[in-house]
Amino acid sequence: MILIENETIKCRDTLSADLEYVKAAESDAENSRFVSQWSIEQHLHAIGDEDQMHITLEDSNSGKRVGYVLMAGLKNNNKSIELRRIVITEKGKGYGRQVLNLIQEYTFETIGAHRLWLDVKTFNQRARDLYKSTGFVEEGTLRESMLYNGQYDSMVIMSILESEYNAGRTTHA
Ligand SMILES: CC(C)(COP(=O)(O)OP(=O)(O)OC[C@H]1O[C@@H](n2cnc3c(N)ncnc32)[C@H](O)[C@@H]1OP(=O)(O)O)[C@@H](O)C(=O)NCCC(=O)NCCS
Repeated sequence: MILIENETIKCRDTLSADLEYVKAAESDAENSRFVSQWSIEQHLHAIGDEDQMHITLEDSNSGKRVGYVLMAGLKNNNKSIELRRIVITEKGKGYGRQVLNLIQEYTFETIGAHRLWLDVKTFNQRARDLYKSTGFVEEGTLRESMLYNGQYDSMVIMSILESEYNAGRTTHA
């Protein structure tokens, strides 16, 4: 099912047939330092879990897969949705920015959430800059909270609130 789309990107439900692509994307050397690695079973669980959304991203014109997104917290009472993972396999072409705008639109206008949040490794400057430029605000750092390859990485928590999303829309209208 298509969740949301614009002239550049289509966000649709991930199918089990997409999981080989998803696994290859997250384990690629360009991405594995920045995102967690899941087994096929964990991805299948996310696809079937009502609290989560597993989204495959396609170019609207070519239909080619260009990445995937995981979201979580759809059932929580605080209306606080986690953007758990984003990987773009066709980097530097503007897909990431478009997807973040679409995910914000989906979160606040379709789901009706109050808060969208994420964590990002401190050294992932490209992602941090992109999140900031699409309206996310840094909240603080979870110091050395992720063990990766024998090394502890620190995570920055970022979020955007419904009011900030609405204010941004008014400003940019
Ligand atoms: C971070 C990521 C999602 C961004 O997606 P993308 O499609 O490459 O991003 P875009 O093409 O929309 O570019 C966004 C910004 O990144 C910057 N950027 C683009 N290419 C870049 C490059 N080669 N090096 C550094 N920064 C670059 C630009 O500032 C651009 O901003 P602009 O629109 O003002 O030009 C993607 O690179 C990715 O999958 N990275 C690995 C996984 C990851 O880090 N996920 C996030 C975990 S929290």
